[in-house]
Amino acid sequence: MPFRTSHAVALALCWLINQAASYSTCNNTASNLSFNSDTTVLSTAFYPNGSTIELPGTVASCAINSTTATGDLCRITLSVQTSCMSSIFLEAWLPANWNGRFLASGTGGIGGCVDYSVLQSGVQQGFATLGQNAGHNGSSGFEFFLNNRESLIDFGYRSTHIEAVVGKQLVQQYYGKPASKNYYMGCSTGGRQGFKTAMTYPEDFDGILVGAAGVDWLRVVSSKGILANRIGWPDVTGPAYLRNEQWAAVLAEQIRQCDGLDGVVDGILDDPTKCGFNPESCACGTAVLNDSVCLNPYQVNSVRKAYLPIADTKGDVVYPAWDYGVATDVFSRYPTAYTILLDYFRGAIYNNSEWNSTDFTAIDMDFALKVNPGSVNTAESDLSAFYSRGGKLIAYHGRNDNSVTSRNSENFFNSVQRTLNLTLSQMHTFYRLFFIPGMHHCTGGPGAWDIGQDGPVPGEMLTKESNALMSLVEWVESEVTPESLIGTKYEDDDHALPILGQRAHCVYPNVSVWDKTGDTKLASSWNCQLPS
Ligand SMILES: *[C@@H]1O[C@H](CO)[C@@H](O)[C@H](O)[C@H]1NC(C)=O
Ligand SMILES: *[C@@H]1O[C@H](CO)[C@@H](O)[C@H](O)[C@H]1NC(C)=O
Ligand SMILES: *[C@@H]1O[C@H](CO)[C@@H](O)[C@H](O)[C@H]1NC(C)=O
Ligand SMILES: *[C@@H]1O[C@H](CO)[C@@H](O)[C@H](O)[C@H]1NC(C)=O
Ligand SMILES: *[C@@H]1O[C@H](CO)[C@@H](O)[C@H](O)[C@H]1NC(C)=O
Ligand SMILES: *[C@@H]1O[C@H](CO)[C@@H](O)[C@H](O)[C@H]1NC(C)=O
Ligand SMILES: *[C@@H]1O[C@H](CO)[C@@H](O)[C@H](O)[C@H]1NC(C)=O
Ligand SMILES: *[C@@H]1O[C@H](CO)[C@@H](O)[C@H](O)[C@H]1NC(C)=O
Ligand SMILES: *[C@@H]1O[C@H](CO)[C@@H](O)[C@H](O)[C@H]1NC(C)=O
Ligand SMILES: *[C@@H]1O[C@H](CO)[C@@H](O)[C@H](O)[C@H]1NC(C)=O
Repeated sequence: MPFRTSHAVALALCWLINQAASYSTCNNTASNLSFNSDTTVLSTAFYPNGSTIELPGTVASCAINSTTATGDLCRITLSVQTSCMSSIFLEAWLPANWNGRFLASGTGGIGGCVDYSVLQSGVQQGFATLGQNAGHNGSSGFEFFLNNRESLIDFGYRSTHIEAVVGKQLVQQYYGKPASKNYYMGCSTGGRQGFKTAMTYPEDFDGILVGAAGVDWLRVVSSKGILANRIGWPDVTGPAYLRNEQWAAVLAEQIRQCDGLDGVVDGILDDPTKCGFNPESCACGTAVLNDSVCLNPYQVNSVRKAYLPIADTKGDVVYPAWDYGVATDVFSRYPTAYTILLDYFRGAIYNNSEWNSTDFTAIDMDFALKVNPGSVNTAESDLSAFYSRGGKLIAYHGRNDNSVTSRNSENFFNSVQRTLNLTLSQMHTFYRLFFIPGMHHCTGGPGAWDIGQDGPVPGEMLTKESNALMSLVEWVESEVTPESLIGTKYEDDDHALPILGQRAHCVYPNVSVWDKTGDTKLASSWNCQLPS
């Protein structure tokens, strides 16, 4: 037998033996796992790299039937009873090539779907990774909250803590030693969960990566109802309501007026708070917009009100304004398509499946805050325990976010600074916020938004410079402080297609400024500096 062939056979044999060993380790270890009586192992199975993991029985609103293993892994699903009427579903992916670390993930929206994109990127990078369902299954609906205080507590803060506790026990038992460091990663509601855990259980994680955090969650949700009513909804044929093509024209005009303020005309408002858009400019008669889309005086007033901040019943501003240059679906589509407001207020606030959001006002918002089911709201900003235990937190937020306005992250950072009475450089020793111009909610958008937060990470982005999770690991373990993050824009946002451009994103309050000479598509042409 020629050497080459025999070598190949030996390698194949080796692979088979390793695979068999991995299969039986996964099976045997699983049968030997022991937890508190509230925890039940539901299933165990080994999946080789690249194999399909079927997800039968996942509720339709989670919109996923199957996923793909991103490494040889042992998949263990568990259920943790949190009361006589509530339980949390956990799913662990334990890679054969473990990097010694633990990574937990959050959920999105109203909460009940395992974030398989984090399981995939976590295992790909060697983390023992956990997913959770925040105590209920589904990303829409209210029945799981209705008259179920315990399920609301799971969603509010308990599920992420249980995920940390059980995840650590699982890692210890499966690998025979604890993880060297513990991490958390999540976006939107997952961002809220990350901050909540940092405040409530500061010891759970050494490093936390949060995107587009829905901190002040009840006001984030309420703002949609208040904005909708400000612009004339539900009277969609009334004189004050804008048709979709009118919103599109208003948005295009905002971008036309403000695009150049950041020095580069690219369709992106790097900092929408700098834009001084005047709705009057879109009125009929000004000849800016043509006769088919220009605004009548009622509509001009709607646009003006759409970009005012949200005040509570006492008249105090409690939630920041919507950003210019951001998709206006919150006005044209959200009142009907945004189900979270209706679901959450039916199930969690009013315990009334007939309630509707037609007449939503600040009274409803303030009432929700008084109820604050399961302490879901994270407007308080005391990260002092997380700070003093040496935790590190990277936050990012798209400046083109059409769900949670990016100013929410800025306000929160500033309020943590006030609460802890720290200087900016002290803040930067543990909490760094990166704004990402041209990024929508969590992912997507015209900007160089990809920082490794969206599923398996392409090979060229497995560096700490261009991968937020790796950057966090370096910060926690090697005290390499993240000075900037390089964002990447792929053609059609597809990792398999060519890179269209890259750009450095900066630590707030610094902003990235084009050097006026280099190619704007190269990260090296952008410098982080204090805003002018
Ligand atoms: C592991 O368990 C699964 C069922 O859970 C079984 O199909 C498989 O044969 C087992 N593999 C080994 C190597 O024991
Ligand atoms: C599981 O436990 C049994 C009984 O204690 C032991 O014989 C076996 O070796 C254990 N298996 C593993 C993989 O630890
Ligand atoms: C899941 O499978 C069902 C039935 O095969 C199919 O109708 C549905 O479109 C699938 N959903 C997703 C998100 O792939
Ligand atoms: C899994 O397979 C992919 C695609 O073949 C490969 O790039 C990757 O390195 C593999 N991962 C591991 C952990 O073997
Ligand atoms: C959620 O779904 C999992 C399986 O996908 C199931 O084991 C669990 O009981 C469900 N949880 C609830 C609260 O319905
Ligand atoms: C919720 O409403 C149901 C009936 O509509 C009632 O039986 C139940 O006591 C209410 N629960 C709470 C917590 O108010
Ligand atoms: C008016 O402007 C809109 C938006 O720019 C455009 O789509 C439309 O074609 C224009 N209509 C006419 C009649 O020019
Ligand atoms: C909401 O309630 C109002 C008044 O109670 C009613 O007129 C309207 O039809 C309801 N809308 C929906 C979508 O149920
Ligand atoms: C805040 O910190 C400064 C500087 O360390 C100190 O002078 C001041 O008293 C502190 N303020 C409060 C309210 O603790
Ligand atoms: C912000 O930019 C200034 C230069 O304009 C620099 O001195 C400072 O170190 C930067 N801060 C951070 C946190 O990167």
